[in-house]
Amino acid sequence: MPLIEICHVSAKDNNTVLKRGFIRMSDTQTIQISNLFSVENKRVLVTGGSRGIGKMIATGYVKAGAKVYISSRKKQDCDETAKELAKFGACVSIPGDISSIDGISALVQEIVDRESQLEILVNNAGASWGAMFKEYPESGFDKVMDTNVKGIFYLTRELMPLLEKAASPGDPARVINIGSIDGIKVPAMENYAYSASKAAVHHMTKVLAIELAKSNITCNAIAPGPFESKMTKEMMNSFKDLIIARCPLKRIGNPEDMAGIAIFLGSRAASYMNGVIIPVDGGICLT
Ligand SMILES: NC(=O)c1ccc[n+]([C@@H]2O[C@H](COP(=O)([O-])OP(=O)(O)OC[C@H]3O[C@@H](n4cnc5c(N)ncnc54)[C@H](OP(=O)(O)O)[C@@H]3O)[C@@H](O)[C@H]2O)c1
Repeated sequence: MPLIEICHVSAKDNNTVLKRGFIRMSDTQTIQISNLFSVENKRVLVTGGSRGIGKMIATGYVKAGAKVYISSRKKQDCDETAKELAKFGACVSIPGDISSIDGISALVQEIVDRESQLEILVNNAGASWGAMFKEYPESGFDKVMDTNVKGIFYLTRELMPLLEKAASPGDPARVINIGSIDGIKVPAMENYAYSASKAAVHHMTKVLAIELAKSNITCNAIAPGPFESKMTKEMMNSFKDLIIARCPLKRIGNPEDMAGIAIFLGSRAASYMNGVIIPVDGGICLT
């Protein structure tokens, strides 16, 4: 039987404790499928959970038995989505703006008032700005960077105490950032700040992965390809057929594609993944 060195043995593991820091596991005991892909009872915050990709992720977590907090700036939209998702499980609306430090502090206080720990943070809220090279406005650049990059960094940092309380070596707390394939390959559309911000998200994911690992927290990123949302509405209206034709799998993404990867990354099955950028794009970024 293999001897595996660990720091702590969780009470929920059925393995035999030999002495502090060591467990003996047979190959068959090691793999416990029943809860390997579970996120049941985990507490999750999905920023930008009121619509689009954030709503897809929040829906997946709610249906998988997690307790999900969704956040976005427009209170009415956020409340309505939470009400809709609460039909399937636990979903709570906590509106907030993650593009400013004040907004982040207020959002963190809302979570702290309700929970003592947080197992999963999904940094999904994002903004895009399309404009020609010569006309690209500073206001658009700042908005995109503040929301997509600065917001992720400071929200994650402010939530560290809650994430640390939920973290263990056997089941780390998770930070899941939503990047984009636009941060991997040069996009067809002119969205200078957006693609730069997503490349920054991917790199920051790797940098944070090293730092947060000290606290048993992993940090990974999902890089979506094209999914239906308010952000992509205009692009889909004009180019959907072309996008599908260029996709090796000949389709755009659907809600299950996004829910599936988010549930996996939040589950024990992904405990040893850290600092990876996962394209969910039907293979588009390979073309
Ligand atoms: N859809 C795609 O094909 C695609 C592809 C690659 C990457 N992505 C990424 O996926 C994420 C979600 O995009 P989406 O397509 O679902 O866009 P979306 O439909 O525009 O949704 C964006 C969400 O973020 C919220 N939000 C925006 N700014 C915010 C702020 N400052 N503070 C808090 N919440 C804010 C929005 O609600 P409020 O307006 O009420 O705040 C909304 O809930 C983004 O990071 C995006 O870059 C999307």
